[in-house]
Amino acid sequence: MNNYNFCVPTDIRFGKGQVECLKTEIGKYGRKVLLVYGGGSIKKTGLYDKIYEVLKDFDIFELSGIEPNPRLSSVKKGAELCKERGIDVVLAVGGGSTIDASKHIACAAFYDGDPWDLVLDRSKVTNALPIFTVLTICATGSEMNPGAVISNEETKEKLEINHPMLYPTLSVCDPTYLFTLPKMQTAAGTADIISHIFEQYFQPNDGAFITDRLSEAALKTCFKYGPIALSEPDNYEARSNLMWTSSIALNHLFTFGKGGAWSVHPMEHELSAFYDITHGVGLAILTPAWMRYVLSDVTVKRFAMYARNVWDVAKEDDYEAAEEGIRLTEQFFVDMGLPMKLSDLGLDDSQFALMASEAVRTSGLAARSYVKLTAEDVEKIYRSCL
Ligand code: NZQ
Ligand code: ZN
Repeated sequence: MNNYNFCVPTDIRFGKGQVECLKTEIGKYGRKVLLVYGGGSIKKTGLYDKIYEVLKDFDIFELSGIEPNPRLSSVKKGAELCKERGIDVVLAVGGGSTIDASKHIACAAFYDGDPWDLVLDRSKVTNALPIFTVLTICATGSEMNPGAVISNEETKEKLEINHPMLYPTLSVCDPTYLFTLPKMQTAAGTADIISHIFEQYFQPNDGAFITDRLSEAALKTCFKYGPIALSEPDNYEARSNLMWTSSIALNHLFTFGKGGAWSVHPMEHELSAFYDITHGVGLAILTPAWMRYVLSDVTVKRFAMYARNVWDVAKEDDYEAAEEGIRLTEQFFVDMGLPMKLSDLGLDDSQFALMASEAVRTSGLAARSYVKLTAEDVEKIYRSCL
């Protein structure tokens, strides 16, 4: 096991009715709340009214319309509001996009320049407002981690800002809020959770036994409950298991004692930066293609271990087991109703070379990922997904 620092300061309030705690908990930090939300799903589900009921004694200011793949322009609006109104607390009600925009707003509120500077140079983050979240889609783990992924629509960059000050202070995770999710968001969110686990599981370090077994349990949870959440949207057991899995899948528990850079996420972030596609959909398309591309004598043992421990594949030959595990993974995404080709999303190869070089430039793909990838490799993987 490698040395590892693990500190997750977010207070998680999990389960039915936990939203009531916001009155007391936000009250510890002040009265002026910036309520941040997306395109309006929280109004349709009644959560918006509930928030106003719980926070009836507070001064609430609103920033609505946060886009899936949240944009820098929204962050700028939010930061201005915080400065003008003297906001005490940022409350994100929604999914990863709303939470990520809120995190960036919370630190941009203390910065006088362009908030994009904070993404490019995290040493410029000097302070952040307390961030509270009410999660309505389980996917990104943003409710329990210090990352925020923001799209700069002018430069077509989608990059992460990651800073300890951006851990949410408290996150309400009530699985009943997931009952209204459209099928495609349930499927894409599950694919995102799975990908987060893969990114940490497929690393060369074999000594972190406990971390690998925890990761396998989390993967089994996704493969068991993803289809149930699709066919029975109000199945509490399925939603609650997926919701907790999404939080621990990206709070660094599954990197404990390991290391390395991620592989599929940097490739996907270029897709959603250039084409504004749903993050989890891009991951589901790229993942089996990446797995096949990097399968080799060096990696086959770990892929075979995945197939045997997660899918109970009984084949003795490592290559046969590994290939069966990859096939089953791909079939799972198909069964979840996810598109499995970039051409299904209307994409062609015109931007592949540029996206591939950007993916390598902005990440650890070429230096530290499980199998190091050049821009040429990444372009080949994109092409195999057409
Ligand atoms: O905008 P509204 O109207 O709220 O609708 C949303 C949105 O259209 C809808 N939705 C959410 N909860 C719902 C609901 N509809 C009905 N009922 C509900 N309960 O779902 C759509 C997607 O929401 P979004 O927040 O975009 O989804 P997600 O949580 O998947 O977030 C994706 C973003 O997070 C980034 C992704 O790149 C992408 O930009 N990521 C953030 C990470 C992090 N902070 O750690 C890591 C991830 O790897 C990822 O990169
Ligand atoms: Zn992700």
